[in-house]
Order: sequence, then C-alpha cells, then structure tokens
Amino acid sequence: PGMTPAWLSAVLLTALLGGASGADTVTQTEGSVGISQGDPLRLNCTYQFSFTTSLFWYVQYPGQAPRMLLEDLAGQNSGEGIREGFDATHETKDKSFHLWKASVELSDSATYYCA
Ligand SMILES: *[C@@H]1O[C@H](CO)[C@@H](O)[C@H](O)[C@H]1NC(C)=O
Repeated sequence: PGMTPAWLSAVLLTALLGGASGADTVTQTEGSVGISQGDPLRLNCTYQFSFTTSLFWYVQYPGQAPRMLLEDLAGQNSGEGIREGFDATHETKDKSFHLWKASVELSDSATYYCA
C-alpha cells in the first residue's frame, strides 16, 4: 500500500495438496502461488466422493492456527467462516469448490487448505 511499488508487493500464497482417505480424495492447487497485490486469486479444489459432502476452505496465517474461511454443507453455503472477501461455489456437477477473491492484499499471504 501507499509508496510500495506493486512489484514489491507480490503476494505469496501457499497451498498444499489435500489429504486423501480411502477412495475419497480432495485435490487442490499445489505449491506456492505468487501474485501481485490487487490481482484476482483462484485456488482450485476438486474432489472425488461417492456422495454429496460438506466442503471447507481453511486459511492459516503465518504464526497462527488454521481458521475456517468458508464452508458448504452438502451443496448449501452455510454463511459460516471468516470469509475475508473470499468466495467459493460448490459445483456438484464438476465436483469442484474453487476458492476465489477479486483482489488480493499482502495480508492474504497464507496457507490455504481445501478439505
Ligand atoms: C485452476 O484450474 C484452471 C483450469 O484447469 C487452470 O487454468 C489454473 O491454472 C488453475 N489455477 C491454479 C492456481 O492452480
């Protein structure tokens, strides 16, 4: 913000591969995603479950415990979670729950988990 050039304000976002249990799997954007302040962000999340399930995005800011960003309970956005300007739509047809934000800030630098 302020005097900081945009190129210095590159936002580093880390996402880790989602865990797998049995035949049910969650796959999310892997590794680090570096984007500039003010840019849109999309982190991908797809799943393979035999039935409709509840989905979550968690965010872990540096030095803090993970917190729930948003949740979808069996196809219904619960409205719970800290959100922080993020949104995700549960597409049951595509089996996806991509995380999206229109314009990221430096403070969005964190680890994001799809579960
Ligand atoms: C998300 O998926 C789209 C379409 O497959 C791809 O173009 C994009 O690079 C992916 N984004 C990330 C951050 O993995």
